Amino acid sequence: MSIVPEPQTGWYDEAMTQDGTQDGKEQTDGRGTGRLAGTVALVTGASSGIGEATATSLAAEGATVALVARRKDRLDSLAARIGAAGGRTLVVEADVTDPAQAADAVERTVRELGRLDTLVNNAGVMLLGPVVDAPFEEWERMIAINLTGLLACSHAALPHLLAAAEDSPRQVADVVNISSVAGRQARNGSGVYNLTKHGVGAFSESLRQEVTQRHVRVSLVEPGAVATELGGHNRPEIQEQMRARFADMERLAASDIAETIEFIVTRPRHVAINEVLIRPTEQVA
Ligand SMILES: NC(=O)c1ccc[n+]([C@@H]2O[C@H](COP(=O)([O-])OP(=O)(O)OC[C@H]3O[C@@H](n4cnc5c(N)ncnc54)[C@H](OP(=O)(O)O)[C@@H]3O)[C@@H](O)[C@H]2O)c1
Repeated sequence: MSIVPEPQTGWYDEAMTQDGTQDGKEQTDGRGTGRLAGTVALVTGASSGIGEATATSLAAEGATVALVARRKDRLDSLAARIGAAGGRTLVVEADVTDPAQAADAVERTVRELGRLDTLVNNAGVMLLGPVVDAPFEEWERMIAINLTGLLACSHAALPHLLAAAEDSPRQVADVVNISSVAGRQARNGSGVYNLTKHGVGAFSESLRQEVTQRHVRVSLVEPGAVATELGGHNRPEIQEQMRARFADMERLAASDIAETIEFIVTRPRHVAINEVLIRPTEQVA
């Protein structure tokens, strides 16, 4: 059983409403038209932030969504909210850094929901600060979650995604990998986060070339600053620096990224959105 450190509350989670929904935005813009009806999606890191918003969006489009993360209480409450809105979910408590748990999460999804059409590799952690004298354990955590977790889920899911692309009425399946602006641009103070997200980009492009002609689309989403819990796992002095950097900036909401992912996976079979870089308008670099 893994011990999950609770992120400290603060500037980074101001977008969360008291009932835990993302940024209080209701989906009243005409979406939710059932474009993913009959499909099954698995979203890692669905207990908060971008993953929670993405699971909500995909379920609103008719997908049955496997909610994967370690904090089961958060997954249960998300499942209840999606269920109340008429959606279907499967709660899967798993630590994706353990390849066996990642594989079990995928197999349980396919066993209980019958198939897998969409994998959103979203679980991640961002621990910033100088390389010199950094706690080595922080680097190991980032590599374990951002790389090993993504690889383990992809490895287990790909046979099912290839089968879905062949057999399903839609004849297409999707892997959406969540990278970052940090996956395109290295910065002083985010060396190992840069390493992991550049790795996600390289792996995604290689995998895309391997499977695209079998109609498994591989998409890379690279957000800039999004108001989530992500920064809350950093040391206090690093959080202070982040606060200063983003103080005057209107950051993206998790729902902005969820909408992007929803757009990607609802394209017709012949359209593959390979890469999306999405920053807050006020974010320069
Ligand atoms: N927020 C931003 O500014 C930003 C910008 C660019 C990219 N991103 C990327 O977006 C992704 C989502 O981050 P977020 O901003 O939504 O942050 P978040 O709210 O902290 O969400 C991270 C999610 O990852 C899950 N997770 C962490 N370790 C896990 C593990 N070992 N096994 C399973 N799940 C695990 C967490 O769930 P549990 O703790 O319950 O396991 C949580 O649901 C990350 O890959 C991040 O790098 C974020």
